[in-house]
Formats: sequence, structure tokens, C-alpha cells
Amino acid sequence: MAIRQIIEAPDPRLKVISEPVEAVDDDLRQLMDDMAETMYAAPGIGLAAIQVGVPKRVLVLDISSDEEESDLRYFVNPQIVWTSNELAIYNEGCLSLPEYYAEVERPAACRVEYLDYDGNRHTLEASDLLSTCIQHECDHLEGILFVDHLSSLKRDMILRKLAKAKKLKAAE
Ligand code: NI
Repeated sequence: MAIRQIIEAPDPRLKVISEPVEAVDDDLRQLMDDMAETMYAAPGIGLAAIQVGVPKRVLVLDISSDEEESDLRYFVNPQIVWTSNELAIYNEGCLSLPEYYAEVERPAACRVEYLDYDGNRHTLEASDLLSTCIQHECDHLEGILFVDHLSSLKRDMILRKLAKAKKLKAAE
């Protein structure tokens, strides 16, 4: 396993639409292992492959708290097939937008179809934080960031600050 570098916004790679995975094989499992290690090291509760520069439809998630047992989940080719009419608001963050958080409104529950670490097909009905995380991560596969759900004023302010922080970092 290896920790990979997380791409931070603004970066054109984060806007790429990821490609479906054709086979859940050892190469893909290597990527998933690296993604899990990268997510835990960050630390974060979700990561899409494109955030480490791989445009494949793969996610890892673990929303368990520090006091709980780990609950690592892998989603290959996830497809949200249903969302509730009821909405929920969460204060979202993203490893690609470090240190920025904003309230985002999304469907409170969703149903997702996906393949797991071994390529087995599953359907999962999720609510609360898990539902939000699945939707947030699936957005990454379409090149969408949580700030894209905010007003353009708020989004531009956050992206400008991130761009400035990146420049400062590069100049160090
Ligand atoms: Ni994210």
C-alpha cells in the first residue's frame, strides 16, 4: 500500500468525468488499497479515485467515528438509482478543498448500486451522513465539487483563496 498525493482545487483534473471500471482485478484492488490508506492518512471520510489523479469510477468511504470500529467501504461503478424528496443539510468538507467547509443541501436518502472490493454487485439504501457522503463522492466522478452546489459568489471566494494558498505553498 502507498499513500498517494491528493489533488487540491483549483485543478482541471478535478473536473474530469471518470470512466467506468471494466474489471475488478488486482490492479484495481491495489488502487483501492492505496486510496484507503491515503484517506485514513489525510484524514478523511471519503475519497474518489480522481482525487489521486486516476479517472476511474471508484470510491472509498469510512464514516465511522474514532470511537467506533472502522467501517471501510469500497464502491466500484457506483450508480445512484434513487434519491428521496426529503432533503438534508450537512456541513461538508473535501480533501481536495482543505480547510473549507460549507452547508450543502442534498436528498436525505439515496439508493446506490455498485460493485464491491471483490467485484460483487450490491444495492445499498443509505441515509444521513452515509447518504451525503455517497452523493458527495459520486459527484467527484462527474467532475463536481461540493462548492459547485453553492452560490457562485461563495464558490469563487473559496476557489480564489485556495488558488492563493497554492501559490504561496509553491513559492516556499
Ligand atoms: Ni470530496
